[in-house]
Amino acid sequence: MATLAPELRHEVDAFDVTRPELYRDDAWHEPFRAIRAAGGIRWTEGSAFGDYWSVANYRYIVEVESLPDLYSSAAGIVVADFEEGDVRLPMFIAMDRPKHTGQRRTVAPAFAPGAMARTKEDIARRTGELLDTLPVGETFDWVDTVSIELTTQMLAILFDFPWADRRKLTFWSDWAGDIEAVRDPVRKAERLGHLYECAAAFTTLWNDRFGAEPTSDLISMMIHSDAMREMDSQAFLGNLILLIVGGNDTTRNAMSAYAYSLDRFEGERAKLERDPALTANAVQEIIRWQTPLSHMRRTATRDTLLDGHRIREGDKLALWYVSANRDEAVFENADAIHVDRPNARRHLSFGHGIHRCVGARLAELQLSILIDAMRERRLRVHVTGEPERVPACFVHGYRALPVTLERY
Ligand code: HEM
Repeated sequence: MATLAPELRHEVDAFDVTRPELYRDDAWHEPFRAIRAAGGIRWTEGSAFGDYWSVANYRYIVEVESLPDLYSSAAGIVVADFEEGDVRLPMFIAMDRPKHTGQRRTVAPAFAPGAMARTKEDIARRTGELLDTLPVGETFDWVDTVSIELTTQMLAILFDFPWADRRKLTFWSDWAGDIEAVRDPVRKAERLGHLYECAAAFTTLWNDRFGAEPTSDLISMMIHSDAMREMDSQAFLGNLILLIVGGNDTTRNAMSAYAYSLDRFEGERAKLERDPALTANAVQEIIRWQTPLSHMRRTATRDTLLDGHRIREGDKLALWYVSANRDEAVFENADAIHVDRPNARRHLSFGHGIHRCVGARLAELQLSILIDAMRERRLRVHVTGEPERVPACFVHGYRALPVTLERY
């Protein structure tokens, strides 16, 4: 389809839901509500990321993700296209079958229930230690002090990454996930530099562990996995970066959403504080409500019909999880948190189908440990000002969240 000239962009389509300000200002609810009300599938032309289909309701996202040969991941997983000169490391999230299957197998055991049970104690101890250092009654930034620190610690444990340098994982992940930076030549070059630095650091770790005895960290697991035969060093690095980015911004923003959302729904927080049996469901509900990644992208491999809409080969489709998780056809009173919502688990925040998040159990474990550790210490978060939100249509979260803690 024809692309509109840049000067005509934005005024044209009020329902271009890729606009960063919608997320910066928390103003995405209405355009998505309107798209869902009109059937849930909408074509947008001339956005800053080119032309794309919005798939905004629950059932069509499930349909698209259930047909991975028709709706491919190989052309990229975000609405932004790869640009000339950008780093493009092979990652299994951006591959189709059968390559995807083999490479996913190298890391999946690290997230199996047995592996989770082994890391649980370590994560619980470190979470407890961090909470015990927090000031009660004084304002601090929850994002940096709690969400980023806990997520970064978890990743450092997972990779057995040098502990003192662990904040570099956050730094690299932030750059890798910044799809707005790709459009600015200066920031794009800066981003490339940081990603090369990240690749170099992991190459060193890989070389150190290559000839060594197997250990339980992810790098060693990947080196010694059978499926590693299907991966060259580029793919190895790409998949490591995928794990850092995949586990970082996402889990971080689920933790920030715990603090932010429950302070808005105090009655629900009281229920959760009283009843430890609600933790597991509350974890799902918070992840539904926040939806830490707003979308994933697919590209049609041939002409097809989706609910009667003519999708052409090469068209890109943005699957808006952020909208599907507010779809009233599935979630009653979807804008509200209900820690005991019966179907909270059905959320699409982890995606659906063959690419469904491989790290979901780890993210759930981390959040549940945080909730339980807060309850055990009788600590409650109060938000003291508006959060600063990430101005982008991919990572859906918070840059800063001023809070105080109360002991109840
Ligand atoms: C895939 C979300 C935590 C690693 C995905 C996908 C989503 C997602 C939406 C794509 C699903 C699809 O295309 O159908 C989240 C959220 C998290 C989280 C919301 C936290 C609340 C993690 C963690 C890790 C991780 C902790 C690892 C440390 C991955 C990987 C993939 C993936 C490797 C690619 C899976 C594949 O293509 O087969 N995640 N994720 N994620 N995630 Fe997560």
